[in-house]
Amino acid sequence: MKVGIIGSGGREHAICKSLINSKKIDRIFCFPGNAGTENIAKNIEINLENFELLKNFILNNEIDLIIIGPEKPLVEGLVDYLEKYKIKVFGPSKIAAQLEGSKIFTKKICEKFNIPTAKFGIFENKNEAKNFLVKSKFPIVIKADNLASGKGVYICNNTSEGNLAIEEIFNGKFGKAKNILVEEFLDGEEMSFFTVHDGKIFKSFQTAQDHKRVLEGDKGKNTGGMGAYSPSRLINKDLEEKIINKIINPTLKGLSELGTNYKGFLYTGLMIVKNEPYLIEYNVRMGDPECQTILPKIKTDLIDIFLSCCEEKLNEINIEWSDKKSLCVVVCSNGYPEAFKKNIEIYNLNKVNLGNEDYLFHAGTLKKNNKIYAVGGRVLNFVSLSKNFKTAREKIFSNLNKLNWKDGFYRKDIGYKVIDK
Ligand code: AMP
Ligand code: GLY
Repeated sequence: MKVGIIGSGGREHAICKSLINSKKIDRIFCFPGNAGTENIAKNIEINLENFELLKNFILNNEIDLIIIGPEKPLVEGLVDYLEKYKIKVFGPSKIAAQLEGSKIFTKKICEKFNIPTAKFGIFENKNEAKNFLVKSKFPIVIKADNLASGKGVYICNNTSEGNLAIEEIFNGKFGKAKNILVEEFLDGEEMSFFTVHDGKIFKSFQTAQDHKRVLEGDKGKNTGGMGAYSPSRLINKDLEEKIINKIINPTLKGLSELGTNYKGFLYTGLMIVKNEPYLIEYNVRMGDPECQTILPKIKTDLIDIFLSCCEEKLNEINIEWSDKKSLCVVVCSNGYPEAFKKNIEIYNLNKVNLGNEDYLFHAGTLKKNNKIYAVGGRVLNFVSLSKNFKTAREKIFSNLNKLNWKDGFYRKDIGYKVIDK
């Protein structure tokens, strides 16, 4: 069969790499993909905002299944659009994608179903929000309502930081802002809990912990993710049951009341406080770099999972995993998450030496005249599996030393909570 993957990040390269091992797949198209997917699939440069063009390509090339990696096309309703033309798509509907597209949409479901989450207020203008800060306790969290690639969240330690966040959000840093979310700061440890859904049932798809801040020690600006490890050290049976019963099931009920169900990956971002889960956010897709971290552990053919989700037959599948630890370090272009240079060559890639439990997934890369160039902020993902996190990270560092890319940087402390005691 022929498969199409939408997206150009490390997540999509990891999905592509996992699928390419399947005997059932003859051909993979990546829209638009990156230098990594170009080696194993056919990259198609197409304007993803133009759903009609995409639909025509899919129909003309008789692609049997489309997998949508990133949130933007999901929030914009690509699943609903393609399904109108009887195209099989793995991903949630436009309404369900509001779980990520609007933090306020999610907070309203939390309120209605008593889902544990940070206390919050919604404000429609700068003055209301600023007045609220005057009587608030710090730290406090201020969030843009729109999609912001993980960057629209400010943890503010005092009123002046809070006022700056309010100004930036209402001045349109993350797109037109009708309102703003101000939240209680939850003091605990984060964990990401992944599930895969077929519209009727869902199954667990592992846990992970990512590192969102740009600097070591979890300091500095928020990014899309600087690295991750899986599993989280926090997960246990009792916690898993609480997450499912107190958070995910009521959310699915909320969606069904809105006339939709959930198909695709669901990423539940949690703060765990004394073995109690609090919802921080939903993402309606796999995480990036969590996907790169988790997929190398999968033993079941990924295409069977996608197909069973599209056919409401997930109950017929048993998802099997390696019990190894997995760690991922993201290499970024200097300057990220602020301005960074584009079109810089990454040499030395041929010096990288990957063992059979090591993976290199590309993100913002482009191949030109047989050379690889960095064209995005997050550029490469090094992943290793091992019996323990420490060895996994050592294997990654050994390759990063070989790469020795002067125009980029990476965090040397990924996984510190499970490694450096
Ligand atoms: P979000 O985009 O909502 O996941 O937020 C990005 C990051 O900000 C999260 O991964 C947390 O590290 C942090 N964060 C968000 N909301 C809160 C909160 N209420 N309390 C503490 N940290 C938070
Ligand atoms: N790593 C965070 C995310 O994918 O949103």
